[in-house]
Amino acid sequence: MEIKNYDFNGKKAIVRVDFNVPIQDGKITDDTRIRGAVPTLKLILDKGGALIIMSHMGKPKGKKKPELSLGQITGAVAAALGVKEVKFAADCANADAEAAALKPGEVLLLENLRYYAEEEGKPVGIEKEDPAYEAAKKEMKAKQKEFAKKLASYADCYVMDAFGTAHRKHASTAVIADYFSADNKMLGLLMEKEVAAVDAVLGNIKRPFVAIMGGSKVSSKIGIIENLLGKCDKLILCGGMTYTFAKAHGGEIGNSIVEMDKLDVALGVEELAKKNGVELVLGSDCTATDGLDFGTMTVKPGSKIINCPANQVPAGFEGVDAGPASQKDFAEAIKGAKTILWNGPAGVFECDEFTAGSRAIGNAIAEATKNGAFSLIGGGDSVACVNKFGLADQVSYISTGGGALLEAIEGKVLPGVAAIKGE
Ligand code: 3PG
Repeated sequence: MEIKNYDFNGKKAIVRVDFNVPIQDGKITDDTRIRGAVPTLKLILDKGGALIIMSHMGKPKGKKKPELSLGQITGAVAAALGVKEVKFAADCANADAEAAALKPGEVLLLENLRYYAEEEGKPVGIEKEDPAYEAAKKEMKAKQKEFAKKLASYADCYVMDAFGTAHRKHASTAVIADYFSADNKMLGLLMEKEVAAVDAVLGNIKRPFVAIMGGSKVSSKIGIIENLLGKCDKLILCGGMTYTFAKAHGGEIGNSIVEMDKLDVALGVEELAKKNGVELVLGSDCTATDGLDFGTMTVKPGSKIINCPANQVPAGFEGVDAGPASQKDFAEAIKGAKTILWNGPAGVFECDEFTAGSRAIGNAIAEATKNGAFSLIGGGDSVACVNKFGLADQVSYISTGGGALLEAIEGKVLPGVAAIKGE
């Protein structure tokens, strides 16, 4: 079913959103995901439906952790929707009464789905190596179905709009769809938009296509990096993974983050880039410090900040941002691009002293976008960068997905999409 054709009048819609938003001291620090879900939620209310909203927050792994309660965002959701009240069901698996009482135009938010291990459907407290694991997994899968069935029982129709979690085959993102007929389940507007944005990048690539991958680990991005090396013209690799590449060539990297067991992976990436004729741009220099406090994200008083080659970081220092030469190289590589994908920052941008690398990338993307490029930004940290630097309205599309976006770009069919489309 297409959401625009569905008659919500007098119906209860259970909508899976991704309200896994960052919260600090009880305040939402980035509400991109809430804003992203608003068009779908408003459409249902405007068409005379009642809303049952469900989401996860964080990774409580079946435990009821108060700091991950969705109860703390009801006010923000009400404000985003422009409604007086968002009711709250403190137990998502026992919300029959609250759901039954819901009237058209009303909104009910269910407590964090991951307070129940059934949501993820993985047995808790038992290792894969344990001989009893397979039996526990089977039992948990059966419980997951029951949990999904319960959620489904609250509503007349199901809308999947959690792009950020669409790469998970969980009770609320996929299994629940089995309990609705094809004409009572659909993707939400955000999902449709996100899938179209991925298509705009991959379906009809306008060249040159420049991809920028940051972040600390080459291992967590290797799938997407290899995939992109078959598609893009230039690949900028920045952030913490810079030092795994530097180390792979025998560089001195001081205390910088490194994956010693992935040096061959780094060399393999360089090999593949050469083979595919992709220009690989790695940071040649970096900004390093001997005193970053990762707890407070500040530089400890009296510590030093230096610029140095990325393969000559002095002992006791740690590379924390792209240096001036790298910033220039990155901007130069982005200039003239017609398709751009950015995932992952170039440095510890949360600390004001180390934003320059990510800022240089953000500015270059904004400039290229002005000149006609399609730019797609995804992943919590890059989105936070774009917002922090005030560039949000100067890029083409900001995705609410991190892992989901990368899997979609890798060409995988997302379970959240497959559950609705039956692919
Ligand atoms: C995310 O933040 O990427 C999504 O909310 C998915 O969260 P997860 O990685 O804990 O499944």
